[in-house]
Amino acid sequence: TWTTGNVIEEQVALIRAQVGDKRAICGLSGGVDSAVAAALVQKAIGDQLTCVYVDHGLMRKGETEQVEKDFVAATGARLVVVDAEKRFLDALAGVSDPETKRKIIGREFIRVFEQAQLEILQEEGPEVAFLVQGTLYPDVVESGGGTGTANIKSHHNVGGLPDDIEFELVEPLRQLFKDEVRMVGQELGLPEEIVQRQPFPGPGLGIRIVGEVTKERLDLLRDADAIAREELTAAGLDREIWQCPVVLLADVRSVGVQGDGRTYGHPIVLRPVSSEDAMTADWTRMPYEVLAKISTRITNEVKDVNRVVLDVTSKPPGTIEWE
Ligand code: XMP
Repeated sequence: TWTTGNVIEEQVALIRAQVGDKRAICGLSGGVDSAVAAALVQKAIGDQLTCVYVDHGLMRKGETEQVEKDFVAATGARLVVVDAEKRFLDALAGVSDPETKRKIIGREFIRVFEQAQLEILQEEGPEVAFLVQGTLYPDVVESGGGTGTANIKSHHNVGGLPDDIEFELVEPLRQLFKDEVRMVGQELGLPEEIVQRQPFPGPGLGIRIVGEVTKERLDLLRDADAIAREELTAAGLDREIWQCPVVLLADVRSVGVQGDGRTYGHPIVLRPVSSEDAMTADWTRMPYEVLAKISTRITNEVKDVNRVVLDVTSKPPGTIEWE
């Protein structure tokens, strides 16, 4: 019979057999899959695992702390945090084309991650031979089912490392669906905020600012996003809503009136969607009172925002993210 306990026990044994007394590296993204994969491997091999978290400065409020503090507290994992905010912001300066932003963020991410791998390798010796990935069953099916080779989550690209070192993949979630991964994560004692986290794009808030990405704009969007998330959770809508991107139209200014005078602020877009798999989606018909509360709070509490609008486009034709 399928129980989370059985899955954990079985995977722990398999991981131990695969890794032996060698070492493994796992990149954490802040998401469910990498966190659960890391927690399983940590349970199996303890300090033979080193986790790496690249802080690109594009995360939502509190998410980096969740990894740094809560994940570590829950698992006891060894974690290397690379503070790369400045590097990412420098690389993104002056760029507002969506695809270019995505390419820059992806490129910088791989470079920073590989540099961290190299440093761990130099410190711990070449017996670091395993790379942990949170590949799920649907990813396996989508990529043709190969084992230990390339898949659609492409962070195992290890260019820049010495030629004679090849990472073998450890993929303890290969047989699991998302809801099962969440159950395993819960059983392993991971924080609720990580286990129940809704989908969030790798490029983070970088693709939720329409226009150039700057620190000020990121901070503003983080504040607005935190309010929206807080109110959606308080209203009990986290399950009904697949995800709710909060988008800053940084290049748009609209006229408002606040206090005694007219303001020129930026609009914030709420994009709540209902979906089964993100391939198609519909905008969520959520209660007006919740929308009203979010709107009032964001315009009152977030500087330079004087308007909140609701995206009522299904996918297709609109994608879930704005960029
Ligand atoms: P779209 O915008 O294409 O998004 O309708 C579909 C789903 O994918 C997420 N998304 C990403 N996830 N890296 C990710 O890991 C990305 O670059 C990325 N872009 C979009 C999006 O949040 C939605 O769940």
